[in-house]
Amino acid sequence: MPVSAVVTTKSTEDRQDLIIQPPLSGLSLVGSITVPGDKSISHRALMLGAIATGETKIHGLLLGEDPRSTAACFQAMGAEISPLNTEQVTIKGIGLGQLQEPADILNAGNSGTTLRLMLGLLASHPGRFFSVTGDSSLRSRPMSRVVKPLQEMGAHIWGRKGNSLAPLAVQGSQLKPTHYHSPIASAQVKSCILLAGLMVEGETTVTEPALSRDHSERMLRAFGAKIRINPETSSATVIGPAQLSGQTVIVPGDISSAAFWLVAGAIVPNSELVIENVGVNPTRTGILEVLEMMGADIKRENQREVAGEPVADLRVRYSQLQACTIAGDLIPRLIDEIPILAVAALFARGTTVIRDAAELRVKESDRISAVASQLNRMGGKVTELPDGLEITGTTALTGCELETYLDHRIAMSLAIAALNATGTTTIHGAEAAAISYPDFTTTLQKLCQR
Ligand code: S3P
Repeated sequence: MPVSAVVTTKSTEDRQDLIIQPPLSGLSLVGSITVPGDKSISHRALMLGAIATGETKIHGLLLGEDPRSTAACFQAMGAEISPLNTEQVTIKGIGLGQLQEPADILNAGNSGTTLRLMLGLLASHPGRFFSVTGDSSLRSRPMSRVVKPLQEMGAHIWGRKGNSLAPLAVQGSQLKPTHYHSPIASAQVKSCILLAGLMVEGETTVTEPALSRDHSERMLRAFGAKIRINPETSSATVIGPAQLSGQTVIVPGDISSAAFWLVAGAIVPNSELVIENVGVNPTRTGILEVLEMMGADIKRENQREVAGEPVADLRVRYSQLQACTIAGDLIPRLIDEIPILAVAALFARGTTVIRDAAELRVKESDRISAVASQLNRMGGKVTELPDGLEITGTTALTGCELETYLDHRIAMSLAIAALNATGTTTIHGAEAAAISYPDFTTTLQKLCQR
């Protein structure tokens, strides 16, 4: 006899509550699903398509609010981008160095990737002036991590708090090459500098303390830039000035969105889910390694390479999880998945420790504090550490009223936790999921109604 969970939404103006009421027992999640296109790859495809010469076609673009912000910014600077859809988006590129001075402030919305990557391009356009801003979350996130290295290359950027907070003003100029040793493993920092180096004569190199996602390096190479990688030192070099020509980009499903279903399948008894067409670039698969280390039953099926990125179907079956330690070089390879891994840890035997993840404090929200406060409200045993979390698993969770801090990954992580709680959970600010996963609630409803 199939057992369903009741998943409903309540909307008032632009706010949405997500209400989840699991059955007293017997819920299982079974089926095959797909997830939306990878957010990191979607941003890069839009940006490189805009600055390349000729036409770029993007298949499988994420239609979340973040890539929409990127598209709007580049349209405002002269790129012709067809209406956004998942089938095919066509971009008439304007050519490297040809971004036009926009007549108004560029708005990156909630998207750190849009703002930080774009800054590298703006700073390297001599003679043009740009101003950039974002929503209240983005205006409180640190920009000095990209402003400082760009200034070392000769960039002119001004903003609040010692040029570290948006809104920022950029006077584009001729930059000089650099070898930047980044104190943090951040793909946004790395990509910003590499994009800035595209128009610079000579070698621009970024070395990071551990390898972060390498989508920029892969896609820049596919568009024709000369890129050199040194895996031993986690360094990437662009040799400029580059020639970029439009390409066809096929965006795989986002492993960061698949992560919610991987954990749901692993923690809800008797579940078996197949998530099709997921990007499994090794710089992103920390989530798979950790869940396997915790004893999850996950299989990679139908492994293949699509447009320069590894892709697989992921099958997950329920199993009893065990606690583990997540730290060190693994962190940049699963940084966006820590909120949902914290949910997994609530159902694992023992105490899971997450360290070296202070970066979580400067994401769309302070994710360390958001995860601890909201999961504890449900009855979890979660302790905040300065750079991580300590989570003792297998205490019963009770449904209650929760906040998302308007952070998409917090919203979706709490929804998955609610599936294994007793009673009704109401998640306020659930509209945030649309940043990276507009169909999240629909997929959840589909899986819960059997
Ligand atoms: C991203 C890099 C990561 C990640 C973000 C997307 C990217 O940020 O958290 O969601 O597309 O480059 P950091 O570079 O700040 O680690």
